[in-house]
Amino acid sequence: MAKPSQASWGGRFSAGPTELMLQFSESVSFDRRLAPFDIAGSKAHAAMLAHVGLITARERDAIHAGLDAIHAEIEAGRFKWDPKLEDVHMNIEHALTKRVPAATKLHTARSRNDQVATDMRLFFKFACATLRGRILGAERALLALAEANRDVLIPGYTHLQRAQPVLLAHHLFAWLEMLDRDRARFADVAAHANWCPLGSGALAGTTLPIDREFTARALGFVDAKGRPQVTQNSMDAVADRDVFIEFAAACALFGVHLSRMAEDLILWSSAEFKFVELPDAFCTGSSLMPQKKNPDACELLRGKSARLQGNLHTLLTLAKGLPLTYNRDLQEDKPPIFDSFDQSALCADVLAGTLAGVTVNRAGCAAAVRDPALLATDLADYLVLKGVPFREAHHAVGAVVRLAEKNAVALDRLPTAAVKKIHAAFGADWAGVFDLQRALARRTGTGMPGPAQVAKQFARWRKALL
Ligand code: ARG
Repeated sequence: MAKPSQASWGGRFSAGPTELMLQFSESVSFDRRLAPFDIAGSKAHAAMLAHVGLITARERDAIHAGLDAIHAEIEAGRFKWDPKLEDVHMNIEHALTKRVPAATKLHTARSRNDQVATDMRLFFKFACATLRGRILGAERALLALAEANRDVLIPGYTHLQRAQPVLLAHHLFAWLEMLDRDRARFADVAAHANWCPLGSGALAGTTLPIDREFTARALGFVDAKGRPQVTQNSMDAVADRDVFIEFAAACALFGVHLSRMAEDLILWSSAEFKFVELPDAFCTGSSLMPQKKNPDACELLRGKSARLQGNLHTLLTLAKGLPLTYNRDLQEDKPPIFDSFDQSALCADVLAGTLAGVTVNRAGCAAAVRDPALLATDLADYLVLKGVPFREAHHAVGAVVRLAEKNAVALDRLPTAAVKKIHAAFGADWAGVFDLQRALARRTGTGMPGPAQVAKQFARWRKALL
């Protein structure tokens, strides 16, 4: 026969859960990392209870001191976590009750449902700030790489076919745009997390005279003007997992960006491209082929993005179809969140480290960008400026490209007479189009890869990131 329950909810139970059920239902093995947030929440709650007169100032101080001592024990790795006590909340409350008699009053006007919702919102604010810092590190590494290679040209690609020339910095700045949107997205998620659910109780609040704004203020759930922000519906507050999904979505999208950057780097470092050399510190060798240097860090960045998407999918599926309000299913919301956070933080650091060690192979880039066919579009634009409609110009240049291919010469080596025969608007100056520097300099509009525009972007990013 199972022993009577020692759990805090054990009053109505004649028998405690079996070993199997304890093992199945415990969450302390993964939610113990919420301890700092749980303790902050409990301290604010105790302060509020004293503020409204539900406990005395002396009881509050004893609770605060006990929580601080427990916090120190946890930090020092001396705290004994007990899976029989299910989760982080009951472990801490149990330990507190053993040292502070007043701790039996701490759970007044509170449920684990609003408690865990609060802990997680505090966690999300911390996690978003952390990831923003890590992503900023990667952005700075990217800017430094662009700075060190500001004059390098490469082909830009569509369909993985050489398309048009760009400055390498312009390509790297495209990545920077992606990362900067990620950083902004985590700020948005943090803003959505910034509402205090405490006081929602299990689902229907409390009959006791609590002060929700006091608690919110104590925990930093405030707007830009310092006004407290409290959730507006007690049922939604304990059932809502939107911020979880938004956080996981922001991580998943960050992962998509990481994966695309990694893929470019993998291609660029191959013998087929030879644009860059990846740092040894972020590559590995082959156990069989002595000559190999594999881009493992980039491949793992690409691989981790699958995992980040999986975590998002887990959360969407978990929340879908749950009746209001809290259901124990929701305990499963934490592992995917913690995993997305941990992996995203690691990925940001690995990306920064990899970028910091990339060396650009200038000769390889120059060889690839030298292909005059990359300026076929510029040749069509040349005809447009002579008054030829673009469709007609496109067709004429197509014929020029075909002729060059047939004669097996580079596009800019065709005799002017042969080109003139294709379209009368081609003048003696037609081959001037193939001057790469001149071609780039003509791209003067905002967002284009011309040197003046790219210089503007350098200034913009330096201001934003340094
Ligand atoms: N460990 C639980 C979770 O993470 C805490 C909330 C428990 N609430 C309950 N009514 N059993 O979801």
